[in-house]
Amino acid sequence: MSIDLALIGGTGLYRLPGLEEVSEQVVETPWGKPSDAIVCGNLGGRRLAFIARHGRAHDIAPHQVNYRANLHALKQLGAMRIVGINAVGGIREDMGPRALVVPDQIIDYTHGRITSFCDGVDTPVQHIDFSEPYTASMRRGLLDAALQASVPVVDGGCYGATQGPRLETRAEIGRMRRDGCDLVGMTGMPEAALARELGLEYACLALVANWAAGCGDQAEISLDEIFANLEHATAKVPLIVASLIAS
Ligand code: HPA
Repeated sequence: MSIDLALIGGTGLYRLPGLEEVSEQVVETPWGKPSDAIVCGNLGGRRLAFIARHGRAHDIAPHQVNYRANLHALKQLGAMRIVGINAVGGIREDMGPRALVVPDQIIDYTHGRITSFCDGVDTPVQHIDFSEPYTASMRRGLLDAALQASVPVVDGGCYGATQGPRLETRAEIGRMRRDGCDLVGMTGMPEAALARELGLEYACLALVANWAAGCGDQAEISLDEIFANLEHATAKVPLIVASLIAS
């Protein structure tokens, strides 16, 4: 079975509406268990696979996700093109709550995570080129698909990956802004780097859930607001995906 496109759903996205003839695949990998069963189905005559990064019950924290198993399992099913969907906080002025962004750069502030497939006796060390962390054609595909679906998205931006699961302090976000980050999220890395090691095409669709600490006009970040904003942004995802898979 071959898969035309795979999605890794983040916070707020646990299934893809519109998938037909759905089957669930429980996949074992040499790197352990993925976050959940992989849901495969048809969309517009194409094959799509979906995995919930935090599990469908959202019981896996960002630092506990088995990123290697998730990506390897998708590849085992024949997926070579992957869109990672990530909830984020907005730092840049035009990336406020409910915005959708296709970032083009990453700064990794995570620590203590397993960041590579190169850790076995028989695994040759690879020094992947990561100057452009996302696959250009996948980014272009997402941007064109959004345009086609009349969904506004911001083209480009730097995703700062933090360890979580707590949100950041104002000082941390101040530093990230000075470093050049436009968005902050907890799950963008090591996923993007591992996808590159596996030779997968990979891009990120970031959904802005809240202003990052100390940004915008909000004094405090409320979870209720985060989920309301995410619901709003998430509703646009199936439109973009349908257009992407049809292209
Ligand atoms: N920080 C980190 N990750 C996030 C945020 C945030 O403010 N919002 C959603 N994911």
